[in-house]
Amino acid sequence: MNSDLTRRGALGSALALAACGPRANGQPAPQGPVTPLRDLAPFPIGTCVQAGFLDDPAYAALTSQTFSQLTAEWEMKMEYIVLPDGGFRFDRPDRIAGFARNHGMKLFGHALVWYAQQPDAFVRLDESRTSFGRAYDNYITACVGRYRGQASGWDVVNEPIRDDGSALRDHLWSQRLGPIDHMVRAFHVARAADPEAVLFINDYNLESNPAKLDQYLRLIDALLKAGAPLTGVGCQTHCNADLPTGALTRTIRALARFGLKVHVSEIDVSIVRAGGWFVSREEKLAAQARLYAEALAAFVALPEAQQFAFTIWGVRDPDSWLVRENASDTPLLFDGQGRPKQTYRALERVLRG
Ligand code: XIL
Repeated sequence: MNSDLTRRGALGSALALAACGPRANGQPAPQGPVTPLRDLAPFPIGTCVQAGFLDDPAYAALTSQTFSQLTAEWEMKMEYIVLPDGGFRFDRPDRIAGFARNHGMKLFGHALVWYAQQPDAFVRLDESRTSFGRAYDNYITACVGRYRGQASGWDVVNEPIRDDGSALRDHLWSQRLGPIDHMVRAFHVARAADPEAVLFINDYNLESNPAKLDQYLRLIDALLKAGAPLTGVGCQTHCNADLPTGALTRTIRALARFGLKVHVSEIDVSIVRAGGWFVSREEKLAAQARLYAEALAAFVALPEAQQFAFTIWGVRDPDSWLVRENASDTPLLFDGQGRPKQTYRALERVLRG
């Protein structure tokens, strides 16, 4: 007998119970047994977490029972790891990694080089390319090396393309180490620190902005031609409920054209950011569930060898970054009580074929 069987048994009843209760908004929850997504999918089903959330036993149980991979929502970014004096701290990343290990979940590293993270400790370094480059390499080596053998992959470069899709972003890392060179370098250093991890580039609005997708594809091509050991392509998939049908399928297919691993890396579907053509909130919720299903179906249709993981950006609605921004949004799979929503059912149906 093993703990896996115990886990599945316990979850069957936890989720089945959750599925029977009334919803917070007064509507009945969908009926019928709910099977954990991680038990239905032949590839990892991920979510993002914050270390502090894991102290809540209900959250921890729901997370470990439903998902099979963890991404740190922000505590494996420079904003947490890099201290003002340039030292590093890994207590919370280690906690998340430990939780993943204890629950038979994979760990995904996020994110090494990101324009949005430019710690003072780096800004302060003198302009000499050598010392800046050494610190840059040292950071990547420390992060990737620490989770070598555990992290199945890393977002090495996050959000390299400008929002209008017109060019690469311009920031500390590109200015000091070169617009393409800083990325090629990061991939090489990450590869040296972990020969096995899948090394990703990752970006958003690829499904809603054709110019951005095009620029992203050209960048991937350029990095591969420059010899970067880039082995994975990420599609954040933060989308809104009014995204036209077909956009996600086209995008996920386009990203797979390099033959590399594909990660739907941060999917959530906003209701409040969706435009006004919906007649009712119910319609928006239905469109939201259809988009989740479309993304997963497009992912499932990829060659098996390219299916890295399908990651949802949070567990329960109130945990979502979108809800911190607008309390009336409901972008995820579970409501505040941990009850599965129609978005969950939509994914379940796709996985059952
Ligand atoms: C977001 C987190 O969800 C927030 O909690 C944090 O404050 C800011 O970052 N693209 C990414 C993620 O790659 O790291 C972002 O996560 C969402 C957009």
